[in-house]
Amino acid sequence: MPDSLLHYRTEFPILERSNYMISNSLGAMPRNVYPALQAYADIWATRGVRAWEERWWMLALEVGNELGALMSAPRDSVSVHQNVTTCQAVVASCFDFSGKRNKIVYDDMNFPSVMYFWEAQRPLGARVHMVKTDDGVTVPTERLLDAIDDQTLLVPISHVIFRSSYINDARAIIEKAHKVGAHVVLDTFQSLGSVPVDVQALNVDFCCGGVLKWLCGGPGVAYLYVRPDLGKKLEPKFTGWFAHENSFEFSTGPTRYAQPPLRFMNGTTHIPALEACRPGLQIISEVGIGKIREKSKRQTARLIELADHHGWRVNTPRDPEQRGGTVSIDMPDSQAVSRELLAREILVDWRPKAGVRFAPHFYNTDEEVDAAIAAVATILKDRDLKQKDERVSV
Ligand SMILES: Cc1ncc(COP(=O)(O)O)c(C=O)c1O
Repeated sequence: MPDSLLHYRTEFPILERSNYMISNSLGAMPRNVYPALQAYADIWATRGVRAWEERWWMLALEVGNELGALMSAPRDSVSVHQNVTTCQAVVASCFDFSGKRNKIVYDDMNFPSVMYFWEAQRPLGARVHMVKTDDGVTVPTERLLDAIDDQTLLVPISHVIFRSSYINDARAIIEKAHKVGAHVVLDTFQSLGSVPVDVQALNVDFCCGGVLKWLCGGPGVAYLYVRPDLGKKLEPKFTGWFAHENSFEFSTGPTRYAQPPLRFMNGTTHIPALEACRPGLQIISEVGIGKIREKSKRQTARLIELADHHGWRVNTPRDPEQRGGTVSIDMPDSQAVSRELLAREILVDWRPKAGVRFAPHFYNTDEEVDAAIAAVATILKDRDLKQKDERVSV
């Protein structure tokens, strides 16, 4: 069957020269980012300060709604920020850790920046409870559910784990959290754009992530969905003039909060990054995450099959329903292998306790998947021969 998604390859210049297998780190840049940034410079150069009124002021809301559409969020429920860590800070600032309900529960497969943020909230009263993985690949759901109790305030977890690509059981975690009155902050950085996310079906309280990986949106834009009923009530203490009901009143004294999503924003928005991310969002929405997921399951299964054939350790779930878009493979000397792959224009990365992470996206061919693994086999063979030669000459 011809792969209709390959039709989009011409939209991504880097695919002409590289085997691009690293969309879990930085998605390929769409060609249309060039005109988008040119238009940004043009409006600044020619319209000057009027650019705010004519385009820039509304841009955050428009991009928020484009992101919201990808996760089935209602309109005006997604605010935009610079990164996921900032999103955690906005959420944290809506709560108080001085009472009995001050427990923060997550697993140690969380993204480190998120954990660093929550650890740093201890002096404010947050009690962090971290559930440990047994195998370095999966999260022990039952133990995580047991840890969520009536003193739990927030459960900030990853939907798809960055290290192993394991898909957390978000539904079960959210249900348990709601049963005891806690809120879940679901980090969909490693899922949205590759694995379907429906914030309304999940009934999640907060959902955040960034656009630079699977959404091909470049660095500098993150999103924060807040469940609309909560959004109307919460009052972030990390706030600023964009969150004021009437920013241009320039009033003194306490703020009067705007309606969501502006309510969850703070200072002046990151216009160039917002402009640059739109072509990626447009392509992902056109391709459709359902189709991306189907292809991803096929190519990740192929990566696992090839790794097994070579006898390398796979640090990613084998069950496709538990596996996101990445396959982490730990072959001998995996860090050196990943460096050699980069030198050969096969773009991957390496992470401790994971190995080489291969992350094909909708624009990758099956031949590229096979070629990446064949290159690893060649690198290891050359290394073995070299070591043998060295032993002989000693
Ligand atoms: C699951 C996950 N969360 C968060 C981040 C990054 O956080 P931030 O946007 O704060 O840099 C990453 C990777 O960069 C990630 O994989």
